[in-house]
Amino acid sequence: MDVLAVASEMYPLIKTGGLADVVGALPAALAPLGISVTTLIPGYPAVLRAVGKGKVVARYDDLFGGPARVLRVKSLLVLDAPHHFVRDGGAYGDPGGNDWPDNWRRFAALSSVAADIAGGAIKDYRPALVHVHDWQAAMTLAYMRHGHAHKIPGVITIHNIAFQGRFDAGIFPILGLPPSAFAVDGVEYYGGVGYLKAGLQYADAITTVSPAYAAEILTPAQGMGLEGLLNARGNRLHGILNGIDTHEWNPAVDPLIPVHYNARGLIGRRRNRAAVERKFGLAREAGPIFAVVSRLTWQKGMDILADAIPDLVAMGGRLALLGSGDRAIENALLAVAGRYPGKVGILTAYDEGVSHLLQAGADAILVPSRFEPCGLTQLYALRYGCVPVVARTGGLGDTVIDANEAAIAAGVATGIVHDANSGLALRRALQRAVTLFRQGEPWLAMQRAGMKADFSWGRSAGCYAALYRALVERAEEA
Ligand code: ADP
Ligand code: GLC
Repeated sequence: MDVLAVASEMYPLIKTGGLADVVGALPAALAPLGISVTTLIPGYPAVLRAVGKGKVVARYDDLFGGPARVLRVKSLLVLDAPHHFVRDGGAYGDPGGNDWPDNWRRFAALSSVAADIAGGAIKDYRPALVHVHDWQAAMTLAYMRHGHAHKIPGVITIHNIAFQGRFDAGIFPILGLPPSAFAVDGVEYYGGVGYLKAGLQYADAITTVSPAYAAEILTPAQGMGLEGLLNARGNRLHGILNGIDTHEWNPAVDPLIPVHYNARGLIGRRRNRAAVERKFGLAREAGPIFAVVSRLTWQKGMDILADAIPDLVAMGGRLALLGSGDRAIENALLAVAGRYPGKVGILTAYDEGVSHLLQAGADAILVPSRFEPCGLTQLYALRYGCVPVVARTGGLGDTVIDANEAAIAAGVATGIVHDANSGLALRRALQRAVTLFRQGEPWLAMQRAGMKADFSWGRSAGCYAALYRALVERAEEA
């Protein structure tokens, strides 16, 4: 079965977060199940550099304001549209962190090309199904339904419902959709145009990245305005947990960490820990090193963490934080760190290598998110024997077994889970972590239990494959 995937990021070519990891890893997990995925992504400078010369498989004289081509390189399709994607800055915004003002046009362009491809624009290529990710690719399903590919089933995955791609109604006439599409059962959303909303409306199936988040987004508190539509389409909504790429993330062979190790011999972690201390300017001490690897945003609860740092230090913990994002949060963290030299080290950067080092050398990772659709860093942490201390929300609660008395007695605890959105709950969790770390034996048991947990893509890829097959069969019967 041929599936066309459409996304705005894909590891290792372009990554700002977990979306890229998922889009990058899922195809390899589906291949052994007889599903061949071709992925369309934008031709950002980094992508064009990495893929070099591809075969031109489609051309546009005017794709929303300029010429464009689709390049094929193995199972990758790259939309080379320099007027949209070749810019100094990030995938979504300028170097100052402001969204590009024409994001609506850039991702309408990506989506309309995806729909053209689904409809046969590339010679000898006809996907049986189209799978789009997040709002940037969501309009593909609108273009498909109003174009040649209206019979091909479409799946949309919500990685984060907080990002919806909401724009003014004034853009509608430029999108090239029929006037009838500007309707409640089309792309119209609270008087404007909603890209994610459109995708959810037109999809044959909606998935999101953990079972808990699938339930949470049906509520007003977490649905962020889309809960009504999601409830109405609830029988099409599936929570499928993300997996991790166990080749990229394997402490026994990881080229990005100083010393390799496995669950039987955790001794190698000591030298990795020393490397973390050097990298983050931490004093050598007996207490645990807590790590953070995160976008610095409100979602991630980084302001709650900043307030808890004095207590973390008072308990005998140290903090090594790698993150980038919101300037105000960065500054707040840097200000607290300045007060605790040798105890708190902060690296405001995006650095894949350091993220691996932290998982391999820190004792625990903190994920105090206010909401978290799935979360991948706690899964990498489990595999690396870095104990996750996480908020009970979304995929975090689905993947970490709290070290309560029952779990410790049964030997199944893999981390510490605390109430979300509460500084007090975070402080208590930190205290429990420090205590268990000092006791030694229960900590080691958590590390070992976590390293045994299997969060590879196997099971979840099977869920996607079954869903794809059911949709294709239904489409063939219709
Ligand atoms: P989200 O997608 O919401 O940011 P996830 O936990 O799903 O959260 O995925 C985050 C991904 O980005 C992980 O692969 C994590 O290691 C990586 N990451 C986040 N911040 C950084 C950073 N500053 N440097 C390197 N990698 C980072
Ligand atoms: C989003 C979510 C994160 C999830 C990732 C991959 O960025 O914030 O929780 O793990 O997508 O699905």
